[in-house]
Amino acid sequence: MPFSDIILQWYDQNKRDLPWRGSRDPYVIWLSEIMLQQTRVAQGMPYFLDFMEHYPAVEDLARASEEEVLKRWEGLGYYSRARNLHHTARHVAFTLGGAFPQSYKGLLELKGVGPYTAAAIASVCFGEAVAVVDGNVYRVLSRYFGVDLEVNSSEGVRYFRELAASLIREDRPGDYNQAVMEFGAVQCTPKSPSCQQCPLSGSCRALETGKVRELPVKRRGKEARLRRLHYLVPVGPGLETCLLRRTGPGIWQGLFEFPCLETESEPTRDSMAACLQTTTGVPQESIADIRCFNAEPIVHKLSHQHLVTTFWIVFLDRAPASAVSLEEARSRPLPVLIANFMDTVKNSYF
Ligand code: ADE
Repeated sequence: MPFSDIILQWYDQNKRDLPWRGSRDPYVIWLSEIMLQQTRVAQGMPYFLDFMEHYPAVEDLARASEEEVLKRWEGLGYYSRARNLHHTARHVAFTLGGAFPQSYKGLLELKGVGPYTAAAIASVCFGEAVAVVDGNVYRVLSRYFGVDLEVNSSEGVRYFRELAASLIREDRPGDYNQAVMEFGAVQCTPKSPSCQQCPLSGSCRALETGKVRELPVKRRGKEARLRRLHYLVPVGPGLETCLLRRTGPGIWQGLFEFPCLETESEPTRDSMAACLQTTTGVPQESIADIRCFNAEPIVHKLSHQHLVTTFWIVFLDRAPASAVSLEEARSRPLPVLIANFMDTVKNSYF
């Protein structure tokens, strides 16, 4: 039996009962696929259910504030996905009259929708025969066909795109795409694929040549950049604090954090006081004491950066006008690094 038939047969018998499975509503498929990019199903699922509960239709998501959407996204990472999601919800609801474009090409015009997401929506919702290519697809195809091209080289990308396109089943494109992704997620996994009970084992090139572990081939990315951060956490007499909203471009755009001093050397009291004054307007005279919260830095790993972080509690005699309660601060959309710190502080410090 050809590859595509075996994969579809496996899918029909083994697919997981996921909440978006069976839906052909582009809103539902769009939301689930954006959430599942660079994210495992188990991690994305609670977020999907929460969004569907609070934003059952694209108009509900469009009416929410960006801050609320970012808050619901907290912990899922890659926050540009959430900002683009909200932007596109508004565009679809307010400019396109609530209807998503109904073709691969039309879907590609939406902000945050790339070839992968457009192919998923077009095939599942509109039956268009365009193949998805994601990490699961690279893994399954590179192993089955024994392709050792680097999947993150331009030659590799082109090769796998064409290979995937040649395999799609025209009569069931949506099921076929989901089948390959599901097969990669459940059966042909990165570390310990179940080759003993694999329906493709009779014709898998990697298994035949003993190369399952070596495929897919990926060119090593750049080393993560090490950054030394010192967060200054103002605490007023009534346990008020100050947060700043990140405005500039970057992964945490739109999220809130404490004033931050980035320096390799140990910060001095003067440098911390000056930083706090510039960012929040707190005058140096208001500072009663500064204490290091964690002598051992907390290392927070992001995809391209390792943040080596120390928190400093800055006790103030007077809270500035912009101060908010610790509870209010915790309710803002925060990077996980800051949210975890606040939970630790609440349990151990005050
Ligand atoms: N990963 C991303 N999208 C998926 C899908 N539709 N099914 C299974 N795994 C996925």
